[in-house]
Amino acid sequence: MFVFHDISGTRQWMSGKRSMGKSIGFVPTMGALHEGHLNLVSRSCLENDISGCSIFVNPIQFNNPEDLQKYPRTLENDLKLLEKAGCDMVFVPSAGEMYPEPVTKKFDFGALERVMEGAHRPGHFNGVAIVVEKLFDIFGPDRAYFGEKDFQQLRIIQSLVKMENIPVKIVPCPTVREADGLAMSSRNRRLSADERIVAPWIYQTLLCAKNHANKTAVSEIKRISTVMLESKGFRVDYFEIADTETLQPIGSWEETSGAIACVAAFLGSVRLIDNMIFFANFAR
Ligand code: PAJ
Repeated sequence: MFVFHDISGTRQWMSGKRSMGKSIGFVPTMGALHEGHLNLVSRSCLENDISGCSIFVNPIQFNNPEDLQKYPRTLENDLKLLEKAGCDMVFVPSAGEMYPEPVTKKFDFGALERVMEGAHRPGHFNGVAIVVEKLFDIFGPDRAYFGEKDFQQLRIIQSLVKMENIPVKIVPCPTVREADGLAMSSRNRRLSADERIVAPWIYQTLLCAKNHANKTAVSEIKRISTVMLESKGFRVDYFEIADTETLQPIGSWEETSGAIACVAAFLGSVRLIDNMIFFANFAR
């Protein structure tokens, strides 16, 4: 497995592969890799001749300095895991390499960025879009793999690719969970032993909410789910039920042919997000 730290080396290596007619799959990450990330890499290896990954804790997508500072960094182990998963090359740039000049670009994703993560983390999706657009430009992939765990991010990236006419196929991949239902996340490492025991309650709450979809009023499900989370000590940023395509909150089940519940909640100082599709695009 090749490891590059510079943009020009990565570009050159990738364009060499492209000129040999190889298809290229790409998995962008911020490292501290787990099975959720490795699943994206395995899928890329199955569907492409060459699979590349990036590891970069992107400073401009963090709206909370403490979150950036405490973000886990486990590069040595990450490289071992990637090699084992069949990854062909990894790009590990410094912040100076990615951002030689101050960043001023502003994307406008409209209503999509004004809800949930977009509303609670100002500037977050602009930072994500800037780095992903740069990475697409460097790698020139045929396919890029994103987890449904970050469902709104997936929709933002799909919108970015459309807006900027980037010739890459975005491949959504299902959320990988621990045996107890907790969605795998690099931030789970920061949970205390007691918090780790409580954390899967998010999944239980989502399952319970899903059971009531189409039967109980949307507002009532949101209220009860929030109470359920608060009863276990979560501080809830939002528990939203939204259209799966536009991610705009829905007021009633009849409004949409696809509904998803999305939640963000703090356990101690760790902010966890998760989601569950209730039903998707069937004729009502
Ligand atoms: P990161 O949080 O490292 O996630 C990298 C990719 O792994 C994302 O597409 C994310 O949705 C996916 N992922 C994380 N946990 C997952 C899980 N439990 N199951 C399935 N997929 C999972 O998302 C980012 O980094 C950054 O915002 C990035 C896109 C790299 C831009 O900086």
